[in-house]
Amino acid sequence: MAWTENGESRFARWQSERGSPPPKTVITTDDRMTADDAYGLACQGMAMLWRSDFQNARQLLIALGTRADRKSAQHLAAIRRSQPGPDTFNRIRQIRAQRARTLGMLLIELDSDYRSALRRAPDVTEACLHAYGPSQGPMVVSLRELTGVIGAYQWASRGIELSALGGRIHPHYGVFAPTRSEYVDLVARAPSPANAAHIDTAIDIGTGTGVLAAVLARRGLRRVIGIDTDPRAIACAIDNIERLGLSNRVQIQHGAFFPDGHASLIVCNPPWVPARPGSPLERGIYDEGCAMLRGFLDGLAAHLTPDGEGWLILSDLAEHLGLRTRETLLQWIDAAGLEVAGRLDTRPNHPRSSDSNDPLQAARRAELTSLWRLKRKRPDPSLT
Ligand SMILES: C[S@@+](CC[C@H](N)C(=O)[O-])C[C@H]1O[C@@H](n2cnc3c(N)ncnc32)[C@H](O)[C@@H]1O
Repeated sequence: MAWTENGESRFARWQSERGSPPPKTVITTDDRMTADDAYGLACQGMAMLWRSDFQNARQLLIALGTRADRKSAQHLAAIRRSQPGPDTFNRIRQIRAQRARTLGMLLIELDSDYRSALRRAPDVTEACLHAYGPSQGPMVVSLRELTGVIGAYQWASRGIELSALGGRIHPHYGVFAPTRSEYVDLVARAPSPANAAHIDTAIDIGTGTGVLAAVLARRGLRRVIGIDTDPRAIACAIDNIERLGLSNRVQIQHGAFFPDGHASLIVCNPPWVPARPGSPLERGIYDEGCAMLRGFLDGLAAHLTPDGEGWLILSDLAEHLGLRTRETLLQWIDAAGLEVAGRLDTRPNHPRSSDSNDPLQAARRAELTSLWRLKRKRPDPSLT
């Protein structure tokens, strides 16, 4: 990223986890900039590299957020009055993406040790090492992203206590975190498949932090394989499994979908919203074209032992948003040679379901998360 400062050309590496391109126009700025002026510049796509007190930059970021929310309030109110559907959902995502772009215009420079020279700057070295790995030299990052990195490091250090696990899960940066734990409870309390005594291997597809693999091991399963495509998830799952003392039962593998062979229990909690992720950080939520959901369903029968069960954990939010129907899901299950042996439901305790300003409030209030117990279809005896 390039800018001019005191008449000199300056360069630094541009860091954006969202994959945003480096801003084309950058000015240096400080405490003399008013929030209204900063907001006006940010809306025009002008990036501001902050050169005075760090805590004042934080205050300015909050002020930019307030202005962006004020601007989008009218649009969101109109959306709340309209019928839920793909258009409504896409419109809300556009408004949120625009907000993220605007707030991303306030920038901070860090040196090659991830230190900021700004007055009252916190020590962000450990947080940046956790999120980005070893430094590759001086860089510029949006204060919005840096705030997320700091918050993620606090979550990772503290961990999330899960009663269903009897322990804590430490989510790494960018890895889907079990902050809404109801689905973990479902996996902890689902009845064991009838052949449980003979289960030698269970698989957790898309293991993320390793939380469900750990729950299965704590349920007494002797061998659990957790698999994920994301290297960050792999490192995170290995870390959690070691912390929980389960390394002798749980093996974490890098890969997509099913490892070779058969298993008596295969669990999968795919991202539940069928839409394109806005950034790599959203890959735990958005499943474009239901690729992971369908990949799991289509491969399940071929990897289950004859009496085995597949446990699909899936929220029905997509149905309430008009992005997928229940009939379609049932058709996919049937076409994959599977039948539903049972279902356990839970109502997610989402903090925003009681937020009347949330344009998705109605859908969130109606949302159910289910554990679908799937088995291979039995051959029709009349045909044999
Ligand atoms: C919603 S997160 C679930 C994480 C964890 N199982 C949990 O329940 O908290 C989905 C995970 O699936 C992973 N994933 C996406 N596509 C995959 C695939 N084809 N094979 C394996 N893992 C995949 C993502 O990297 C992500 O970690």
